[in-house]
Amino acid sequence: MSAPLSHPPAAQVTDLIRPELRALRAYHVPDASGLIKLDAMENPYGWPAPLQADWLETLREVALNRYPDPQGRALQATLREVMGIPAEMGLLLGNGSDELIQMLALAVAVPGRRLLSLEPGFVMYRLIGLFAGLDYVGVPLRAPDFALDLDLTLAAIEAQRPALIFIAYPNNPTGNLFDAAAIEQIIAAAPGLVIIDEAYAPFTDASFLPRLGEWSNLLVLRTVSKMGLAGLRLGYLAGPRPWIEQIDKVRLPYNINVLTQASAIFALRQQALLDAQTTSIRHGRSRLLAALRDLPGVEPWPSEANFILMRTAPGRADALFDGLRARGVLIKNLHGAHPQLADCLRVTVGTPEENAALLGALAKALAESAGGDVAAAGAGREG
Ligand SMILES: Cc1ncc(COP(=O)(O)O)c(C=O)c1O
Repeated sequence: MSAPLSHPPAAQVTDLIRPELRALRAYHVPDASGLIKLDAMENPYGWPAPLQADWLETLREVALNRYPDPQGRALQATLREVMGIPAEMGLLLGNGSDELIQMLALAVAVPGRRLLSLEPGFVMYRLIGLFAGLDYVGVPLRAPDFALDLDLTLAAIEAQRPALIFIAYPNNPTGNLFDAAAIEQIIAAAPGLVIIDEAYAPFTDASFLPRLGEWSNLLVLRTVSKMGLAGLRLGYLAGPRPWIEQIDKVRLPYNINVLTQASAIFALRQQALLDAQTTSIRHGRSRLLAALRDLPGVEPWPSEANFILMRTAPGRADALFDGLRARGVLIKNLHGAHPQLADCLRVTVGTPEENAALLGALAKALAESAGGDVAAAGAGREG
């Protein structure tokens, strides 16, 4: 007979778990089985079969019984070469850039210290800051174009003296680049580190990577996730060596597993393929943006990333999101995520076929929701 399940009393959970953690809902990743997945800014393209075979061949060499190289030295060398990381800068690898955000937060976390970022922005800055015990300062972007409000940001920096400032460039979920001159002023004014998060670097020509070293407090964060390697979980942080050496101390040993190290070294060498995929996504973005502009009922913002943010008519986002999912397309519903994102949806740029399916489903969902309007108006007249 199996032992009965034993659960801790609710009071014990309440006593032991930090109140700020209990107040949170766990980060939710929706089930995308059977759906066209346009919710998470992944590259939609796979690899041709011969390349896949070559990759699998390289994995034969990997010793699964051994721990990985703790620093991932061969992978670091490949990244330096392929990404053009200045030789004099330090480099740190993370299990996704999320882990590097966590390492940064852990490295500076002293009670009362603050982490600042711009809002609406990437939610993990606030969450990870909270996990590490940092206080969070969110500075609103300007409405309606989500431009950086330099005066407001400088005033917040002056008043709050944040240890860390995260700026996503381009920004998620708004897709825009901020004014580079404004960012320069922020770096110059910051009392702590400024991390320019270039997760969407493959889809824009702007970057602070070549400018590392111009300011002693500038770090650049990147990931391979959006360029087609999200499954590997690999991010990298580049910046002046004295910072990188200290942040490296909070890294758990062997954080980049052997399969990721070997696969990333192989994949990063497929520059032509990755570039072709990125180019195709950039073209797809232009076409998708134009098509969305032509759809009555949604207003898209321009984007420098591999996704597009759009606003629906007031109160329509939930119904459109559900209508799309019912037609087999999963996107991100941002309504309710932040006051400035009211009625907003975000779509990842997919393959041309996926984008066409999205547009077709969206047109139908819009018509359905307009039909609901007419029905509601009719019902109103009758009643
Ligand atoms: C701005 C930004 N930074 C970082 C990340 C996390 O990337 P990774 O997959 O490397 O953890 C994301 C993911 O969506 C993002 O939008």
